[in-house]
Amino acid sequence: MLLGPPGAGKGTLAKQLSKGYNIPSVSSGDLFRNEAASGSELGLRLKRIMEKGELVPDDITVQIVKNRLEAKDAQAGFLLDGFPRTKEQAETLAKFVTLDKVFNLVVSDQEVIRRLSGRRLCPVCGAIYHVEFMPPKTKEECDQGHGALITRDDDKIDAIKKRLTVYKKQTEPLIRYYSEKGLLYDIDASLPPEDVVRQARNVLAS
Ligand code: AP5
Repeated sequence: MLLGPPGAGKGTLAKQLSKGYNIPSVSSGDLFRNEAASGSELGLRLKRIMEKGELVPDDITVQIVKNRLEAKDAQAGFLLDGFPRTKEQAETLAKFVTLDKVFNLVVSDQEVIRRLSGRRLCPVCGAIYHVEFMPPKTKEECDQGHGALITRDDDKIDAIKKRLTVYKKQTEPLIRYYSEKGLLYDIDASLPPEDVVRQARNVLAS
């Protein structure tokens, strides 16, 4: 499971590990954005919550992630990106999943703001870019030929600050929670992406 503030690089690392270990990466944020894109009543509610940088209620979150984990491709293992994010979610998860390892991505607030302000996404394949740190080959276009990149609605400065505050209050306590269970491994997420992946691979190989 990948734990860390918004913009720490959880999605970027999850994509690399998922490819390397051939297991799906399950991102609660992606599941919510997919539901929001469907235009359903629930999706519109999720969109409003995410734009404000607040957390989706625990019961909705757990149900959506649990449904995803029941899919066939997740039966041999999976990587959780951004879930659980509250102690309640962690305790509910423990009733149906045994986690092997939790990676705590450590990065400063200043770096979070730099990363999120420059993030770009491909709306078709989900590839993650950064205008400065991981730029696409052609400006503002996906390297896979999917056309124009987009900016996430919650990557505006006010929402970023709110997400950081929410993280510190509601999610950071999970560092201690998982540390006391002997599952936590700190990852220096301020390093370049390839060094972040290397640290995670070393822990998984040990
Ligand atoms: P979610 O989608 O999970 O967002 P988040 O946790 O805020 O994290 P991000 O996706 O913004 O960042 P990331 O750590 O994945 O970084 P990334 O790899 O993209 O959640 C969105 C919302 O959904 C929440 O606010 C909440 O409303 C709701 N939600 C989700 N889960 C929930 C839950 N469990 N309970 C309740 N509500 C929930 O990288 C960021 C940028 O940095 C990119 O541009 C990337 O190219 C660049 N970058 C990455 N790594 C590096 C590096 N090593 N060096 C330089 N640049 C890098």
